[in-house]
Amino acid sequence: MHKQSYRAMTAGLKIVKLDESSIEQAAQLEKQVFKMPSSVDELREFSSGDNLFAFAIYLDDKYVGHVTGYITKHGVNIYNLVVIPEYRGKGIGNKLMEYLETYTKEELENAILLHVRESNVRAQKLYKSRGFEVYGKIPGFYGDEDAISMRKIVE
Ligand SMILES: CC(C)(COP(=O)(O)OP(=O)(O)OC[C@H]1O[C@@H](n2cnc3c(N)ncnc32)[C@H](O)[C@@H]1OP(=O)(O)O)[C@@H](O)C(=O)NCCC(=O)NCCS
Repeated sequence: MHKQSYRAMTAGLKIVKLDESSIEQAAQLEKQVFKMPSSVDELREFSSGDNLFAFAIYLDDKYVGHVTGYITKHGVNIYNLVVIPEYRGKGIGNKLMEYLETYTKEELENAILLHVRESNVRAQKLYKSRGFEVYGKIPGFYGDEDAISMRKIVE
C-alpha cells in the first residue's frame, strides 16, 4: 500500500468504548476468527465491568475491529484483539495497540501483557514491532497449542 493511502486510512480511524451499536458485529467477528470467541453478553461485560475494557475501532464510521481485556496487579492484559480480515494490513491493529498504551498510562499501570498462539506469527510481529518482549511460554494454554507470553513496560 502506498504511504499516502496508509495515512488516509489512519486519518479516518476513531477508537471508542465498544457499545450496543457494534456489539453484535464484534461477536460475529470473534466467532469467525477465534476458536473460543466471546459472546455478545461477554463482550457487554468487558465493556462495562470493573477492571475490564472493550474498545472498538471505526474507519470512517464503519466498525472494523476491537480489543478486549482486563486489569490485574500485573498491569493491562489483552484478552482478544481482532480486525476484520478485509481491513488487515492497513495499520488498524497497530492503532489499537497504540491506543492501549495510552490507556495503560491513564490507568496508572505500567505494563501490558498478553498471550498469543505460537503459530500466530503475524500477531507476534505486530507486538514485537511495538516493543513487546517474550517472557514465557505456557504449554497447552489453548488446548491444542502452546501460548507465548509477551509483555511491554509502558513508561
Ligand atoms: C493481529 C491483527 C489484529 C493485526 O491487525 P492488522 O490491522 O492487520 O495489523 P496492522 O495492519 O496494524 O499491522 C501491524 C503489523 O502486523 C504485521 N503484519 C501486517 N500484515 C501482515 C501480513 N500480511 N503478514 C505478516 N505480518 C503482517 C506487520 O508487522 C505489521 O507491521 P508493519 O505494518 O509495520 O509491517 C489481525 O491480523 C487479526 O485480527 N488477526 C486475527 C486475530 C488475531 O490473531 N488476534 C491476535 C490474538 S493474540
